[in-house]
Amino acid sequence: MKIETLKDAFTKVFGEEKEMKVFFSPGRVNLIGEHIDYNGGCVFPAAITYGTYAIVSPREDQKVRLYSGNFEDRGIIEFDLSDLSHTEDEHWSVYVKGVMVQFKEAGFNIPTGFDAYVFGTIPNGSGLSSSASLELLVSQILKELHGYEISMVDMVKLSQKAENSYVGVNCGIMDQFAIGMGKKDYAIKLNTNDLSYEYAQANLGDNSILIMNTNKKRELADSKYNERREECDKALELLQTQADIKFLCDLTVAEFEKVAHVLTDEVLYRRAKHAVTENERVKLAIDVLSNGDLKEFGQLLNQSHTSLRDDYEVTGKELDTIVELACAQEGVLGARMTGAGFGGCAIALVQNDAVEAVKSAIAKGYKEVIGYDADLYVATIGDGTKTLA
Ligand code: GLA
Repeated sequence: MKIETLKDAFTKVFGEEKEMKVFFSPGRVNLIGEHIDYNGGCVFPAAITYGTYAIVSPREDQKVRLYSGNFEDRGIIEFDLSDLSHTEDEHWSVYVKGVMVQFKEAGFNIPTGFDAYVFGTIPNGSGLSSSASLELLVSQILKELHGYEISMVDMVKLSQKAENSYVGVNCGIMDQFAIGMGKKDYAIKLNTNDLSYEYAQANLGDNSILIMNTNKKRELADSKYNERREECDKALELLQTQADIKFLCDLTVAEFEKVAHVLTDEVLYRRAKHAVTENERVKLAIDVLSNGDLKEFGQLLNQSHTSLRDDYEVTGKELDTIVELACAQEGVLGARMTGAGFGGCAIALVQNDAVEAVKSAIAKGYKEVIGYDADLYVATIGDGTKTLA
């Protein structure tokens, strides 16, 4: 992305400004460990080089003026720091206000506003976390403009809280963590039980991660997401009558099978089973990756998808079609949906010399079955949220 182009766009919208700061916040892919970041499980995401940019100029008054190059029809969105309440037609500014409210509640004073031109290269609603990317971007802007003493992990927590209590999606911490704490060429092994983490070299040998965007709009995704969370909470409550656990993922698969008889509701059983088995797959996946066993890593991706399809039921026709198509191609070691599901993106682990052939086969097959195009591109793992200039 050319920063000069973004600065020109800023100037066109807001006129000449004295001071411009430049910020970037990435999107993320999750390699494995899906829907367990709110069940105390281990997840394995990475930040990607697609993300959200902001050109920001501080103001002396209390106004905030926002413009997105992705939503030009919305024009300039303006509000005052003295009123951060949710308006009816909030659109993307909901993430900006949501983060500001969290900073204020945490005791950070926001004395003055800013003008910001924002542009994202993450397709919206693709499951690559354009919203968490924006939340961390706003956190970084506030920190930089007002000189707060706050760690990235605390900004990650405030951003998650904004999503939970202001936006109303009861998400876990994985997306915000991967985005804020991302590091070029590394995936993050994050234990959501206690937030301990380790960087693990994403050593994929002669393979790449292919991102496969189904372009299926994630309608109802947020309400379905919250519904899955509630189901896990119910399952946990029942299992707690049998075992001394704080989260579903405190149980190994063997321990789970011993106490699972209390889950007489078959749906709750399958939800909990996904969480427990997925957590074990993540641990195995990290082990085999560090030993360079990419074939086994690919198998675990496949098993993760099957569990998300059959037990957790968050895939759908588009994601299943694209994953099946990928797995049928020579040179593909494994594939799975990534993110919340219900549409959005899947990933495939593909041998470098097969990438082009795999892309055209998937593109053709997907269009035939689904009727519209998928977008396919190779992911590059990049750094977390930062001030660029
Ligand atoms: C969304 C949420 C994350 C996580 C994933 C599923 O991306 O924001 O917290 O739960 O879904 O793994």
